[in-house]
Amino acid sequence: MNTPLPEHLQGSATLLEPINQTPKRKLYLESYGCQMNFSDSEIVASILQQNGFETTREILEADVVFLNTCAIRDNAEQRVRNRLQELKSIKRRRPGMVVGVLGCMAERLKSKLLEEEQLVDIVAGPDAYRDLPQLIKTVEGGQKAVNVLLSREETYADVAPVRLDSNGISAFISIMRGCDNMCAFCVVPFTRGRERSRNPESIVAEAQDLFEQGYREVTLLGQNVNSYLWTGGGLKKDNPTEDELKNATTFAQLLAKVAEVNPLLRIRYSTSHPKDMGNDVLETMAKYPNICKYIHLPVQSGSSTVLERMNRGYNRAWYLERIAAIRHYIPDCGISTDVIAGFCGENAEDHEATLSLMEASGFDFAYMFKYSERPKTLAERKFADDVAEEEKTARLNEIIALQNKLSQKSNEQDVGKTMEVLVEGPSKRSPEQHVGRNTQNKVVVFPKGETQRGQYVRVKIDACTSATLMGHLID
Ligand code: 5AD
Ligand code: SF4
Repeated sequence: MNTPLPEHLQGSATLLEPINQTPKRKLYLESYGCQMNFSDSEIVASILQQNGFETTREILEADVVFLNTCAIRDNAEQRVRNRLQELKSIKRRRPGMVVGVLGCMAERLKSKLLEEEQLVDIVAGPDAYRDLPQLIKTVEGGQKAVNVLLSREETYADVAPVRLDSNGISAFISIMRGCDNMCAFCVVPFTRGRERSRNPESIVAEAQDLFEQGYREVTLLGQNVNSYLWTGGGLKKDNPTEDELKNATTFAQLLAKVAEVNPLLRIRYSTSHPKDMGNDVLETMAKYPNICKYIHLPVQSGSSTVLERMNRGYNRAWYLERIAAIRHYIPDCGISTDVIAGFCGENAEDHEATLSLMEASGFDFAYMFKYSERPKTLAERKFADDVAEEEKTARLNEIIALQNKLSQKSNEQDVGKTMEVLVEGPSKRSPEQHVGRNTQNKVVVFPKGETQRGQYVRVKIDACTSATLMGHLID
């Protein structure tokens, strides 16, 4: 599952000079939800760029406005609904403006969205982005346009993403799409379709190209990257032949290939599934210094009964054993997780089990959510959403308080250490400070001195909060 990010706007990118003098039309893109959506928006921008568009940060000058949406929890959808309300007044001022809803919410609601949100002209699911220029033409011809077909093959492998809002240092590379897992709470298998992996050569070429452009960190993205398997394309579960399996590329092998692009290129990946997190990946991580020592391993719950009901394919003991394996192969590994509070049937004892698992795992960071029932999912069909809202809130608050304590403790252990940091740019607080990350993905702030974006520097940590390490440069 993808790590969720707070949604924010993706703005303009530097695009190629126009070849002819036809004025380019303007595309305004807003992305919500996970990193995969942000990465998909870069594919959308690329497809439209090839069709005479350039991106803009100014919604008021846009010819086309796309919201790339998330459906993972109800509140993610509500945010998009509210944004659509705001767009109404803008559309009144610019009646020719085309409004499209893309991504998971588009896929979930399909043409219902056109009925419910009158100002929407285009509804396009995650596998329909090549069709967007055609959909825009349909709208310009006076009709509404919908394409929510899910594909068995689409990976957009040949589309070179236009990097939006980039710091020029770190970039996402999408390595697979869809998910076959059917976790009981999760809408993703319905919105992003079946799991398929992308050709490894195209992934390595993208990493190489980014490195040559000056990028120094790539994050390989997929809903469940450990399950990556390239056997020549198509669905993962299409039963590859023996020959195909012999020549297959696993996730561990892909990691090694990307790590070999250049020792100065850092590699990260997200998201892992505990049931598929094998020792081969941990061995590869330990072997290559440029593969970051950081794993996001969503646990969801610490109770085996709840995990079973969630259809996660592992239990508490399995998860704790995987944590022990990580610590064995990579003793200094940063580990983060996702936790859901108040899933169907969760009782006080189950909740205590989540707290004790968090404590035992010593997570450095966590994304924490209240369970939100999603239509069509296994949980919606089979179980009652029976934990009261106030109880969900109380449990979530306990989980957050514990994680704050664990993050603080983890950061305090770094005070006094000297670590390598990849400089990302000025910190938000002060232009005199630079911000970057260490291999464990912790944010490090330090007086910038002569350092440049994209440089690896050594920083000695003097102080911390639960979210940030503060230090000074060491020669
Ligand atoms: N309710 C709450 N959280 C959810 N997640 C996925 N589906 C739901 C849901 N229905 C969380 C999981 C996942 C993360 C991206 O979002 O923790 O790992
Ligand atoms: Fe992640 Fe499970 Fe959802 Fe797949 S079904 S995206 S593994 S939470």
